[in-house]
Amino acid sequence: MSLTCRSVGGARRAPGPRGSVTVDVMRIHVVDHPLVAHKLTTLRDKRTDSPTFRRLADELVTLLAYEATRDVRTEQVDIETPVTATTGVRLSHPRPMVVPILRAGLGMLDGMVRLLPTAEVGFMGMVRNEETYEAHTYATRMPDDLSGRQVYVVDPMLATGGTLVAAIRELIKRGADDVTAICLLAAPEGVEVMERELAGTPVTVVTAAVDEHLNADRYIVPGLGDAGDRMYGTAG
Ligand code: URA
Repeated sequence: MSLTCRSVGGARRAPGPRGSVTVDVMRIHVVDHPLVAHKLTTLRDKRTDSPTFRRLADELVTLLAYEATRDVRTEQVDIETPVTATTGVRLSHPRPMVVPILRAGLGMLDGMVRLLPTAEVGFMGMVRNEETYEAHTYATRMPDDLSGRQVYVVDPMLATGGTLVAAIRELIKRGADDVTAICLLAAPEGVEVMERELAGTPVTVVTAAVDEHLNADRYIVPGLGDAGDRMYGTAG
């Protein structure tokens, strides 16, 4: 399977790996594939009910995760096939960590661990203040020491960027040296905030689309609405 990506971002561009471009340090991959576009369109449709939304989000994450894990660290391993001895690869230690941002990130967890079944899972509970739009952390469950870890943080919507910036700062503070954010959708405003606030940190964003803009309520336009509500109903 091969997924093509296009890159978006700010002014300073230089060739990066895999046909991407490097924008400062942060890399952005927009996964450009008809199946991704098809699933995303159904997610956007307001007539899509919660069970269908959850199933499609799960399938979409697996496609995004395939691209996001292209640089997952591996080590060489000697094995014997029924025919002969050979060498292959396995995921290196320390194992990668997947961190869903609660609540909506939970709907992306299964799709991630399907591709990375040996990954460890940490949790961050974050909520944005609907008046100031600032991110507030209400729960954290992950190792204090993430030294040498590749971390995949999953949050469906990169809107203002506040939540992801706060989450990624925390991961880097704990020693993570390679962080990939996987989002179903991104807004250009949020991408800019991440580029600015996380300049100089080893961060990659993988997403299915960068939409037009944020509206006055900081929802992504055209977007898909409130991802948590669409997944789990309207309970706050
Ligand atoms: N969070 C959402 O769930 N949707 C948006 O459009 C923006 C933030």
